Amino acid sequence: MNSSNSDKESMPEQEKSKEIFKRKEEHLKIPIEYNVQHSVNYFDDIELIHHAIPEIDLDEIDLTLKFFNKKITAPICISAITGGHPISKEINEILAKAAEEEGIIMSVGSQRIGLEDPTTIDSFKIVREVAPTIPVIGNLGLGQVGSVYFREDDLTNCIDMVDADVMAIHLNALHELVQYKGNISYRNFEQNFKKIREVTNIPLLAKEVGSGINQDLALMLDRLGFDGFDVGGAGGTSFAAIESKRNNFDNGQYSRNLAEVFREWGIPTPVSIINVRKASQKMTIATGGLKTGIDIAKSIVLGADIGGFAYKFLKSSWQDRKNNTISNTLREIRTLKKELRSSLWLMNLNNLSELKNKREKCVILGNLYFWLNQ
Ligand SMILES: Cc1cc2nc3c(=O)[nH]c(=O)nc-3n(C[C@H](O)[C@H](O)[C@H](O)COP(=O)(O)O)c2cc1C
Repeated sequence: MNSSNSDKESMPEQEKSKEIFKRKEEHLKIPIEYNVQHSVNYFDDIELIHHAIPEIDLDEIDLTLKFFNKKITAPICISAITGGHPISKEINEILAKAAEEEGIIMSVGSQRIGLEDPTTIDSFKIVREVAPTIPVIGNLGLGQVGSVYFREDDLTNCIDMVDADVMAIHLNALHELVQYKGNISYRNFEQNFKKIREVTNIPLLAKEVGSGINQDLALMLDRLGFDGFDVGGAGGTSFAAIESKRNNFDNGQYSRNLAEVFREWGIPTPVSIINVRKASQKMTIATGGLKTGIDIAKSIVLGADIGGFAYKFLKSSWQDRKNNTISNTLREIRTLKKELRSSLWLMNLNNLSELKNKREKCVILGNLYFWLNQ
């Protein structure tokens, strides 16, 4: 993801790109080598109601739906992971090929580096080259859209770079806060967003990256003109935990590492889904700690439309990269579909609309109950 405070704005371009380049590589390797997942996953506090005599055949269950103007085979999104590095190009190629074969959504990581260093553009472009038909979500950060240096062209260039069907603007304040020289000033966000809203005719999503979206903010973003959300709640990959593993901590000045202290910070994904759904009826992707197809079903029962996965697909594609294949990623997608289909079957439901937002079809327990009933 991004950072671009005034310090960074004044860095020579080459140095800035080198710094982002190194960060890109670390962001890919750290989640593979260390445990940077939130320690609590609130999906465990949701139980779906079993139905002992399913009346339909498993294979008759319809998982298809429309994601804006394109049909997908199942409500599954490969969430934003990477771009801007030679390894990213390989990862994006694997993910996009598998997504195309299985007919699901593919997202690219932050395209800021593509705007700043044209030599990295191929790591993004590869996605559309190998995935001509599926929905592709482009990605740019709050750090850019909120900056005084932002130009509307930046967004248009990102859209063109991947021939994006949809653009996500990622909201990563915690990440920027704990990152070395992160951008922590977003005063121009609303003003800049209004300008891009006027000139952009593809859907724009507001996407958190692991700390979730509260109800008031969801309402504000809905009114501002976003077309949908990716709740990016707490429960899965923690960017603060990733940053705590990078060498950023100034122990001369502070006694504790801010990134380590804030590693669990955030609104749990299930709570964030409910927050967003109360505020808006627009397209909503649930990411943040989803592990299986049952978690997709749990997200949909709470009101989401689609389940998104970053860590799962980072792991599968990392393995695929080593073996020069896409088979692990394909297997992961098929497994998620099978698990989701099985969940619907065991609940005696024909399709996703019989599941969506049907709170009577689940029980909420434990700390999630307290979160929702405070
Ligand atoms: C290595 C890595 C890089 C990521 N980079 C981005 C990014 O550039 N833009 C973005 O919006 N989200 C980014 N994310 C956040 C994910 O898209 C997702 O919202 C978050 O990781 C929660 O999902 P998970 O628990 O399945 O990992 C990244 C996640 C990972 C693991």
